[in-house]
Amino acid sequence: MALDRPSLAPNDLSAFWMPFTANRQFKQAPRMLVSADRMHYTTADGRQVLDGAAGLWCCNAGHNRPKIVKAIQEQAAELDYAPAFQMGHPKAFELANRLRDMAPDPFEHVFFTNSGSESVETALKIAIAYQRAIGQGTRTRLIGRERGYHGVNFGGISVGGIVNNRKVFGSLLTGVDHLPHTHLPDRNAFSRGQPEHGATLADELERIVALHGAETIAACIVEPVAGSTGVLIPPKDYLQRLRDICTRHGIVLIFDEVITGFGRLGAPFAADYFGVMPDLITCAKGLTNGAVPMGAVLATKDIHDAFMHGPEHLIELFHGYTYSGSPLASAAGLATLETYREEGLFERAAEIAPYWEDALHSLKGTQHVIDVRNLGLIGGIELDPIPGEPTRRAFSVFLKAFEKGIMIRTTGDIIAMSPPLIIEKAQIDQLVDTLRDILEATD
Ligand SMILES: Cc1ncc(COP(=O)(O)O)c(C=O)c1O
Repeated sequence: MALDRPSLAPNDLSAFWMPFTANRQFKQAPRMLVSADRMHYTTADGRQVLDGAAGLWCCNAGHNRPKIVKAIQEQAAELDYAPAFQMGHPKAFELANRLRDMAPDPFEHVFFTNSGSESVETALKIAIAYQRAIGQGTRTRLIGRERGYHGVNFGGISVGGIVNNRKVFGSLLTGVDHLPHTHLPDRNAFSRGQPEHGATLADELERIVALHGAETIAACIVEPVAGSTGVLIPPKDYLQRLRDICTRHGIVLIFDEVITGFGRLGAPFAADYFGVMPDLITCAKGLTNGAVPMGAVLATKDIHDAFMHGPEHLIELFHGYTYSGSPLASAAGLATLETYREEGLFERAAEIAPYWEDALHSLKGTQHVIDVRNLGLIGGIELDPIPGEPTRRAFSVFLKAFEKGIMIRTTGDIIAMSPPLIIEKAQIDQLVDTLRDILEATD
């Protein structure tokens, strides 16, 4: 039995240095997941856990979806790998076409990566190289935002704004500046959907332009909805103002849609939802429903075409990954997009979002809750931190939630939720009622 199912009982947890995890705490009391189906995980001790986080914001269609499973199985048996450089295989082209069809109009080209972090690095490099290609070679500076999360590679943590992700990793990229974050709890607490106050924070980009000179700035990157920093919803009109300033000063605007892509807001991309078009979109996670690592950068025709010059035997962009558009990931991506379409999951997310909003906001008045934020199928519940012990209260809620059969995410003292788009109303009630009970019983 042990040999049949070794994953149920690993005899030694020490070798695996776990990412973004309190390793010593985990290894004393492991939370081990061994299988999953639709809205639920099964733990090693046989309990069902409702997934309130779509894994890590990625399993938008829920788990173990038949079409995706079959596509991966068949692809592995047909073509395991094809070189990504100077060679092709049909499914990568097909997936790029499907993404182009699904993306907002200006996006006509797709560069494949293997993760959100790689999509961010790719987009930043494309932006700088694009400026050079159009004769704007002095534009190398990158603008990010405080509290931004753009993955964990050096470009991403340089433009990102989460102190713990940056402070022990040296001097990072030079030539980076940051917009202020948009979290205004005094004015916007318990906003439903987009908050009223804060659009003018986008005008800080004008201040940054005045400080450095537009001719030094290549790109500005923001998450249209910031997730990993604890769910910050953009104030009304904020993104459009950023767009206008970028256009005015020739700055490439990048939307990091690693969590907002693929229906999270009830539309294919946040760019669709807000009606604001950036120049580059990064995505990952929901692209393959989390089943095989894959990311992508969507580029406008203008950006792509700026590279298509010179002798045709020469490589136009010296960038790419061994697994860019790999057969397995491409097959999973095609089956995922088909599942979203067949089941109308983006529309479903839009339909159920008002119920989600009401349920989350019913937590107002619950002990420790100092703010509730929501948009689409994203929810953030901010807790009052224990004085002198930031993050401890939320982490304890996370542990209790897992014991009581729901999986949530916490970041700082904020609970972040992003369930699969197939969630039922009764399951939303279960998430919120369980959290209420835990919060009322937590010191
Ligand atoms: C907005 C954003 N960008 C980038 C990333 C990094 O993605 P990955 O962990 O796949 O590298 C994330 C991950 O949560 C994200 O939320």
